[in-house]
Amino acid sequence: MIKNKKILVAVTGGIAAYKAVDLVSKLRKAGCQTKVMLSKNAQEFITPLTFKSISGMDVALDMFSPAGYIEHITWADWADIVVVAPATGNIIGKVAAGIADDLISTTIMATAAPVLFVPAMNIHMYENPIVQRNVTALRKLGYLFMEPEHGLLACGYRGKGRFPQTTEILFAIRTHLHHSRDLAGTTILISTGPCQEAIDPMRYITNHSSGRMGLALARAAHFRGAAVQVVAGALQDAVPDYLPVTSATTAAAMHTAILKHFSQADITIMAAAVSDYRPLHPAKEKIKKGDNLTLELERTTDILQQLGDEKRPDQTVVGFAAESRDIVENARKKLVKKHLDFIVANHLQVAGQDATSCTIIPASGTEKTVAGDKFSVAHQILDMVAGRQK
Ligand SMILES: Cc1cc2nc3c(=O)[nH]c(=O)nc-3n(C[C@H](O)[C@H](O)[C@H](O)COP(=O)(O)O)c2cc1C
Repeated sequence: MIKNKKILVAVTGGIAAYKAVDLVSKLRKAGCQTKVMLSKNAQEFITPLTFKSISGMDVALDMFSPAGYIEHITWADWADIVVVAPATGNIIGKVAAGIADDLISTTIMATAAPVLFVPAMNIHMYENPIVQRNVTALRKLGYLFMEPEHGLLACGYRGKGRFPQTTEILFAIRTHLHHSRDLAGTTILISTGPCQEAIDPMRYITNHSSGRMGLALARAAHFRGAAVQVVAGALQDAVPDYLPVTSATTAAAMHTAILKHFSQADITIMAAAVSDYRPLHPAKEKIKKGDNLTLELERTTDILQQLGDEKRPDQTVVGFAAESRDIVENARKKLVKKHLDFIVANHLQVAGQDATSCTIIPASGTEKTVAGDKFSVAHQILDMVAGRQK
């Protein structure tokens, strides 16, 4: 968890500097100790007073301060993680070149903690080959990066360069505090969300799945370095910008989308609530109100069974089981019948809730019951599943 962790937020001189206020505020609300450093140029965009008020700690501004201790070493040693947010092209370039000529660059050079850069800048700046070369070089050295989001930039351009949503930065921080990039080089296919099967052009059959567990798995896998492909049903939430997604809101569309990506996936996690049945003859026009109505339903393809039957020995397939009774026992039967490597048996079936509890059952080995918010449960599922890959 993130509570009581020491987060050093280094704010550099970009237009998104004001958005770092929300990040610091949310970190403090989450129970972190948050120390802010502002570059000299960042102070052109936002004042130290704002960050002092929000963080509840003095803001570090100057390497040669009369504080009575050596600021850059003190905070470099203090931090559990350093988050450079927003990170200018300038600070990325300085760190890549080994320059330590101000408080932030010198602290980054001096720290043994993980350093997460959150770049935000004009699209041409971000795409500049020198910036990209610096990002690549720093990634190779173990520095961590978030991708900027696409959208309308402050400079008027539309493209990749926006500061990410604060909630996404929090997910990244939570991951990097506890996990290495242990899934780098692994391709993971994750389906999530409910299907909608048409009765007529206005009505459909669906279920209570929110899709949040699958999205939590996708986020967690992404920040641990996996190449993630999401196949999304009718989700309530937006899929984050950094996750490639194929929309598939019927069982048939999901079948096609999953088979398209399955052969490249090292791990496939079927968290989607795929419809078991669909109307046999969906009406072309809206069905008029009348007497009682009987709908004839037909079975959809059992995608999970097909994946379990067809997987190669080097592939891992994970299913989910949502049962209203004898959950673990029924999940175990499903695991065997569908030739899965793992099944996750959900204990709580409350749609949309963030907390969950489930038992992760491997085909061989010891099962584990975990509980918590969906993001921490996602990491625990990945811990078990990735353990098999090694
Ligand atoms: C109005 C304005 C907005 C700027 N926005 C950004 C930005 O979003 N990202 C960026 O990398 N640089 C931006 N810059 C340029 C940086 O401020 C400049 O490179 C500066 O040297 C960064 O210093 P620092 O990295 O020490 O804070 C902006 C400059 C101005 C004048």
